[in-house]
Amino acid sequence: MNRKYRKTVIAGNWKMNMLPSAVKPFMEELKGYLPKTRVCDVVLCAPAIMVPALIKAGKDCKIAAGAQDVSKYEKGAYTGEISASQLADAGAKYCIVGHSERRQYHGECDMLVNAKARALLEKGVAPIICVGESLEQREMDLTMEYVAYQVKAALSGIDASQLRRCIIAYEPIWAIGTGKTATAEQAQEVCEGIRAVIRRIYGARPARAVSILYGGSMNAKNAAELLAMPDIDGGLIGGASLKPADFAAIIAASNQE
Ligand code: PGA
Repeated sequence: MNRKYRKTVIAGNWKMNMLPSAVKPFMEELKGYLPKTRVCDVVLCAPAIMVPALIKAGKDCKIAAGAQDVSKYEKGAYTGEISASQLADAGAKYCIVGHSERRQYHGECDMLVNAKARALLEKGVAPIICVGESLEQREMDLTMEYVAYQVKAALSGIDASQLRRCIIAYEPIWAIGTGKTATAEQAQEVCEGIRAVIRRIYGARPARAVSILYGGSMNAKNAAELLAMPDIDGGLIGGASLKPADFAAIIAASNQE
């Protein structure tokens, strides 16, 4: 983390878990565990149907609501889709785009991820843009090349003033939901590389200001070590964000100097 230049963000990714009726009790329990002071921004990204419940329950403890996907289309005959303006109007402040599960199970390509990020920015919703390599790519030593390509593609056509509202999440696919966390050094190396890619496109100042999160089996035990790294500005947390005590412990871990 480097709080002098950028925000620390702890984001939960509930994926397709939880029920709308479970949001209030979850938040009540979470409040009991939250540290008294907090220097990070906290967001919970849930299926869009839960955004109103999250806003209501998270208001007094300053937890923002986020979604997990958005349509690239603005409006119209796209049955089943949810637009950026609908998310914004419902009060979502963030939205994940390009999560590896969407790339894997829904065939999302880098162009689509870029279109979704731009659609969100236009409506004032902050995209959390996910990138990350597979195990095969890591073993073939292609990690940085591949991640650099994903970052460049996702940011295509996004100008420096919009970049300020983007968050990048580095999530090695082999670490997601597997209990296998990247070591702090491995995660730092790629996050530093991502910042270097952004620096080459936008220059030093914008690159310094972008928050880059790590995701992939981050939990109450390993969070402090990961967050101590200079280019890891927070976490995108799946499994552990479903457990109030664990999620609060990760928030507390971001309080370190
Ligand atoms: P995990 O998921 O923390 O359960 O590994 C992270 C993610 O997919 O965002």
